[in-house]
Amino acid sequence: MKKISLIILIVFIGFIIAAMTYNFWPSSPVSNSVINTSTPAVTNLPANAPIVNKPTTKPPVNNSTPSSTSKPTPVNATPTLSAAQVATHNQPNDCYLIVNNKVYDVTTYIGRHPGGKKSIYDRCGQESSAIFAAIHSNSAWNLLNKYYVADLSK
Ligand code: HEM
Repeated sequence: MKKISLIILIVFIGFIIAAMTYNFWPSSPVSNSVINTSTPAVTNLPANAPIVNKPTTKPPVNNSTPSSTSKPTPVNATPTLSAAQVATHNQPNDCYLIVNNKVYDVTTYIGRHPGGKKSIYDRCGQESSAIFAAIHSNSAWNLLNKYYVADLSK
């Protein structure tokens, strides 16, 4: 019984050595050195070595001419709203004002207005340039800029 085990062990070891020598073994260092001798490693190439296996196929050329009718889409174009559109924002919880041809959404400012809520409520959705200019300081004008949403369309 011991003899049979010994023979099986020897055969097994012999098989492994044969496998490594003849590249049956996938990552065997022996097989790499045997098989890859014809292909020098890239790192060993001289700096001026010609590039072998250069791709011969050229990248596809886009011959299609852009359509003359297609216009580029403007990026970051200034939004505009008409007076009629602004007029629909005429509620305390949705309040736009027009001041000097610019549209402001002042809904969130109403509760903080030093001149009271009602003075703004009464003008929601309306042109308010004259009254705003008549009453307010420079700091109020600066504050107004924070609420800008669009230019008024002509
Ligand atoms: C068109 C609507 C508005 C009317 C009729 C109006 C009216 C008034 C009134 C009567 C006062 C008190 C002035 C005083 O007692 O000295 C006032 C103050 C003030 N309002 Fe308005 N307001 C309007 C819109 C706004 C808006 C939209 C803002 C800012 C986003 C604003 C910011 C201020 C500030 C900061 C003050 C304190 C005084 C100043 O710095 O001018 N108001 N407003």
